[in-house]
Amino acid sequence: MTTGGPLIDNLGRVHNSLRISVTDRCNIRCFYCMPEENVRFRPRHELLSFEEITRLARVMAGLGVNKLRLTGGEPLVRAELPKLVSQLAAVPGIDEIALTTNGILLAEQARALKDAGLTRVNISLDAMTEETFRRISRRDGLDRVLAGIAAAKEVGFPRIRLNTVAIKGITEPEIPALAKFAKHEGMELRFIEFMPLDAEENWQHDQVLTGEEIRRSIETAIGPLEPASRPDPSQPAMDFNYQDGSGSVGFINPVSQPFCHDCNRLRVTAEGQLRNCLFSTVEWDARTLLRKNVGDEELAQLIRDCVRAKKPGHGIDSADFIRPQRAMYQIGG
Ligand code: 5AD
Ligand code: SF4
Repeated sequence: MTTGGPLIDNLGRVHNSLRISVTDRCNIRCFYCMPEENVRFRPRHELLSFEEITRLARVMAGLGVNKLRLTGGEPLVRAELPKLVSQLAAVPGIDEIALTTNGILLAEQARALKDAGLTRVNISLDAMTEETFRRISRRDGLDRVLAGIAAAKEVGFPRIRLNTVAIKGITEPEIPALAKFAKHEGMELRFIEFMPLDAEENWQHDQVLTGEEIRRSIETAIGPLEPASRPDPSQPAMDFNYQDGSGSVGFINPVSQPFCHDCNRLRVTAEGQLRNCLFSTVEWDARTLLRKNVGDEELAQLIRDCVRAKKPGHGIDSADFIRPQRAMYQIGG
């Protein structure tokens, strides 16, 4: 394929990672993401088919993308996801196919996903008590999430990661139990600062529980942490190891410590719109090109245009910050 060199933007950032949203649907209703009622989902025909997603991944791989992550909404509510995984696994140049899931349906699907070629899973786990889980997700289901985590371990996924959105006034009491659980299971726990991507637009800066605050709380409750080495500068998390070697915890601090300068990520929404940032206010319409059946070169050009237009940073803290039109479930986490 003669689509040219790697995807480098105006600031020299090389893009090798694509996050693919496969649906905007979800089986729970986290307040930091979705509206509680009357969610308007995209009709099925607007979503990219598995063939369209795979074609896009193939062109991306020709431009140096070697890592894929499937997101949603909740990706496991999309029918036959293992089939997509196996199609993507067959794309030359793709080294990693990861999944970000809320875990509710993972117990049923873990084996098939692993067999299809999924390499890694991140599972959202915001709370260890059903009460807090329900307060956040406005549904029941912590027991199913825990069963999903157990199943991921059982089928042998390596380096399973648990993601916790950190919200002031909600997360603090859960921290020790989450940290102990992750440590006991040999999984990495990552706290992600609450970002202004909630559908209900209630986000307030003072609801952000920073990674620094959580780190101090873990050191008090569990034990001293020390910074881990950073093999990959584009990884957004600041990782720490317990001094006694019993595990690690990471902090993704998009609000208090933006990491945009090292970003290597592109996104495609479930209905085939390319985005160069979670906070993009502009999108590049890959679906129309895919459905017009254009050549690879034309798709590659669209991807390049998207990369070239990438801004230096999200600017959450600047006076002229504009929230994206879409909420998290409509973008893909
Ligand atoms: N801020 C931070 N993280 C969020 N997620 C969803 N919405 C937000 C938000 N507003 C996280 C989920 C999951 C991933 C898909 O994105 O918890 O880990
Ligand atoms: Fe669903 Fe994930 Fe959004 Fe929660 S954050 S409502 S699990 S898509």
